Amino acid sequence: MANKVRFGLVGCGGIGAVHAKAIALVDEAELVAVCDVDLARAQKLAEEHGAAHVFPDVKSLLDAIALDAVTIATDHKQHFAPAMAAMARRVHTIIEKPITVSLEEAHKLLEAARANDVKLGGVFQRRFFSSRTAYACGDRR
Ligand SMILES: NC(=O)c1ccc[n+]([C@@H]2O[C@H](COP(=O)([O-])OP(=O)(O)OC[C@H]3O[C@@H](n4cnc5c(N)ncnc54)[C@H](O)[C@@H]3O)[C@@H](O)[C@H]2O)c1
Repeated sequence: MANKVRFGLVGCGGIGAVHAKAIALVDEAELVAVCDVDLARAQKLAEEHGAAHVFPDVKSLLDAIALDAVTIATDHKQHFAPAMAAMARRVHTIIEKPITVSLEEAHKLLEAARANDVKLGGVFQRRFFSSRTAYACGDRR
C-alpha cells in the first residue's frame, strides 16, 4: 500500500511491544519511529519491529519525523505531556489506559483534540468483546 499510516510509539516497555506487534498486523500502518527515556530499550524494540528511527524523548521524535499518528504507552503519569505535544502538531493520538491521571488533564486532552482537529483514542481493547469472547480469551488478550 502506497500511503500507510505512519505511526510513532512513545514508551517501549511491556505494552509498547504489544502496540508494535499490533501495528505490524495492520497492512495500512507502519511503525516508523519509537522513543523511550531508556534509549537502549527503544533501540531494541526498533530492531525487533523494523522501526527506522529511535529517540530518547517525544520532542526529538516529533521534531525530526513527520507522523500521522502516535501511540502512547508510557507510565500513567507520562501520558499527558507526550499526548499534548503530539496533538499540538496535528498528529492523531492513541493513549494507553488510563488516558491520564486527573479529570482536569483529561478535559485538556479532549480540548486539544478538538482544537487541533485530530482523533484522540484511549485503549480499551475489550470494548467490542462479547462477554463470551472475553471469557474464551481469558485475561491474556
Ligand atoms: N490495555 C492494557 O491491557 C494494558 C496492559 C498493560 C499496561 N497498560 C498501560 O500501559 C502503560 C505502560 O505500562 P507498561 O506495563 O508497558 O509499563 P512499562 O514500565 O513496561 O513501560 C513504560 C515505558 O515507558 C517509558 N517512559 C516513561 N516515561 C517516558 C517518557 N516521558 N517518554 C518516553 N518513554 C517513557 C519507560 O522507560 C518504559 O520503558 C500504563 O499506562 C499501563 O496502564 C495497559
